[in-house]
Amino acid sequence: MWSDLPLFPARASTSAGQVDALYLYLIAISAVMSLLIAGLLVVFAVRYRRESKASRLGASNGSMRLELIWTILPFVVSMTVFVWGANIFFHVNRPPDDTMNILVVGKRWMWKLQHLNGRREINELHVPVGRAVKLTMTSEDVIHSFFVPAFRVKADVLPGRYTTLWFQATRPGRYHLFCAEYCGTKHSGMIGWIVVQQPEEFEAWLGGGVRDLSPARAGERLFTNLGCITCHNPESKGRGPSLQGVFGSTIRLKGGGIATANEAYLRESILDPQARVVDGYDPVMPTFRGLVGEEGLMQIIEYLKTIGPKAEKS
Ligand code: CUA
Repeated sequence: MWSDLPLFPARASTSAGQVDALYLYLIAISAVMSLLIAGLLVVFAVRYRRESKASRLGASNGSMRLELIWTILPFVVSMTVFVWGANIFFHVNRPPDDTMNILVVGKRWMWKLQHLNGRREINELHVPVGRAVKLTMTSEDVIHSFFVPAFRVKADVLPGRYTTLWFQATRPGRYHLFCAEYCGTKHSGMIGWIVVQQPEEFEAWLGGGVRDLSPARAGERLFTNLGCITCHNPESKGRGPSLQGVFGSTIRLKGGGIATANEAYLRESILDPQARVVDGYDPVMPTFRGLVGEEGLMQIIEYLKTIGPKAEKS
């Protein structure tokens, strides 16, 4: 009912309605409280003005009942906000299992996006309607923030770290993409479009155009060119552990402790190999910092996802 109100951006994702509902609830609470307080203020100011004959007898010096009411009532109301908000928070922060994945690198002052089949985009992202899309994002320089008002989603994009964002578009169309973190002179120009298409239309788009190597294939090439394969060789027992099926597995670490081999762990192991060494191996791996950029790192990780028993489809 509110979707046509010009005060609100279009509502074009599965979470948009939930976010708006909570937002309106907060507005309603604020409005009721403001009217109540301002109204009483005016009523009392008029009624007990200096010339008024209104009785001042029986003024209360404290009441347990009142104290309880204005303690418990706001508590209950704020808990509804908390529970409702936490619920939406979990929904927005937990991507479903079956998502279409896209790699995003922010840099001053553009968004570089790549689909897993290799098709690249700059400042524009095509997605199909009705499909959950997950973005894995990082930055080449400073902090940016990926913000799509129509989807009611926003996440910071940080150098040296992966953040994720997911959404499911519900309406075809073109929607604004903004950078929502001041990142320098042309921050205001770091904008773009999300193009939501019908699935068939999207498939046709995805298959057309100039396509690079898929990130997984590009990663495989890096894996060979950087010489990773020499030590991480699945056939012979190399100096490093085999990376067959490593993605998503649980790693036993030297000196105790465990780690999950997710994107963050793999990235760290390439750039800072001594940080968390696999049990049973010596900390002999050199860092690859400076030898491989953020996109290269994402590509190597995409490649690692595709090899071994626990491989994901790319
Ligand atoms: Cu990137 Cu502001």
